[in-house]
Formats: sequence, structure tokens, C-alpha cells
Amino acid sequence: LELGKEKKDLEGKKVLITAGPTVEAIDPVRFITNHSSGKMGYALAEAASKRGASVTLVSGPTKIMPPSNINFVPIKSTLDMYDAVMKHFPQQDVIIKSAAVADYRPQYSAEKKIKKQEGDLTLTLVRNPDILFELGQIKEGKILVGFAAETDHVLEYAKEKILKKNLDFIVANDVTQEGAGFGTDTNIVYLIDKTENITKIDKSSKTEIAHHILNKVKELL
Ligand code: CTP
Ligand code: CA
Repeated sequence: LELGKEKKDLEGKKVLITAGPTVEAIDPVRFITNHSSGKMGYALAEAASKRGASVTLVSGPTKIMPPSNINFVPIKSTLDMYDAVMKHFPQQDVIIKSAAVADYRPQYSAEKKIKKQEGDLTLTLVRNPDILFELGQIKEGKILVGFAAETDHVLEYAKEKILKKNLDFIVANDVTQEGAGFGTDTNIVYLIDKTENITKIDKSSKTEIAHHILNKVKELL
């Protein structure tokens, strides 16, 4: 009850959540991507929907069934995610970017399978847009929440991202800790807001963490 699970306290609010990895094709059979099971984002979508929000979930490929009663938008690449997020952004009250976005994509994606040659292969990767950064430039009254999965200097790097991307708060985790990060059902996170107020959430299920994140959103709405 304390977590807000039983309340419909997000009734009437529109929440956009991104989840999972983005995937960048090298050719029709090869790709580059990031580690991400999508569990955190799907837990957020489910929790927000139960609390009465209208949820749009923009997701890269995962093995999870999307929750019912939400607007599910499957995508593959970062550019696909960019288009879907920009299309839905104007109607939203809250945007939570839990996706593990590929920062780079191959400069060329071959239409046919690249055949193996003698010697090495060099791929040129070009920068993808930083979706969250761009949202930070146009956010106006919306609540913008980012994630930061770090291996070191967790709080320092996460704080830099709040400022750089103009976020209301960031969910930071140290992916090297046991029970945190990719593929696990639990996580250990810090919620850091723009006044550098830090709340540590000890090892909890991703559903519980989702409710903590939504409580913080609710405070700011
Ligand atoms: N993000 C995004 N678009 C990108 C890269 C990241 O929207 N092209 C979002 C992620 O969804 C996350 C936040 O920005 O909410 C932070 O992502 P992260 O990878 O930790 O930060 P980067 O700015 O990409 O920095 P780096 O990977 O160098 O740590
Ligand atoms: Ca990144």
C-alpha cells in the first residue's frame, strides 16, 4: 500500500516508457546491440498502468510479453525509437527512458549478407541521436526520467547526466553489483534528482523499484 500499488494515483496521466535494447543491423544476419532484458521497463509499464496511467511502451526486442491495456510500440533501431518517441512525446505528461540505446550504428547496413574475405574487417560506426538529450531541450512542463547503468563512478556520472540531459531525476545503478543490472529480477538503484537529493533503494524486485520510481514521479507531478 505504501508503495502506491493499490492506488489509482496516476489516473488521467499519460506516461511514455522506453524499454529493452535497440538493435543496429550490420547486414540481414548480423547486428550490434546492448545488454538489456527489458524487465525494468516492462515492470514500469505494468505498474504505471495498474496505477491508472495511460501507458505507451516503446520497446526494442525482448523475450517478455507486453502488458495488456497499454499502447505497445515495438521498434528495432535507435532511429526507429527516436521516431516513435518523437511522435508520441507531445501528448505525454511523463517520459521514462529505461531503454539501453545503442549509441552508434554501422555507417552502412548491407542489403545482402556480407561474405567473409581474407583478412580483417573494419566497420565504421556513426553516432546515433541522443533521444533523451533532445527531449530535455523541448520538455517544457513534462517530467523526464533517465536511467544510467554504470560500471564505475556511478553517482558522479549519473549526476552529470541529469544536468546534461535536463532531467527531473535519474535512476542510477552499478551493473557490476550482484543482484543489480541486466537480466536479473532484482536491482539496486539510486534515485537522484536535480537538487542532488539521493535516495538509495536496497536490493528489491524490479516491480518494487518501478513503484518507487512512480512515487517520485507522482511527487513531482
Ligand atoms: N539515451 C537516449 N539516447 C541515446 C543514448 C541514451 O535516450 N542515444 C538515454 C537512455 O535511455 C538513458 C540515458 O539516456 O535513459 C542514459 O543513457 P546512458 O547510456 O547511461 O548515457 P549516455 O549519455 O549514452 O552516456 P554513456 O553511454 O557514454 O555513459
Ligand atoms: Ca550510452
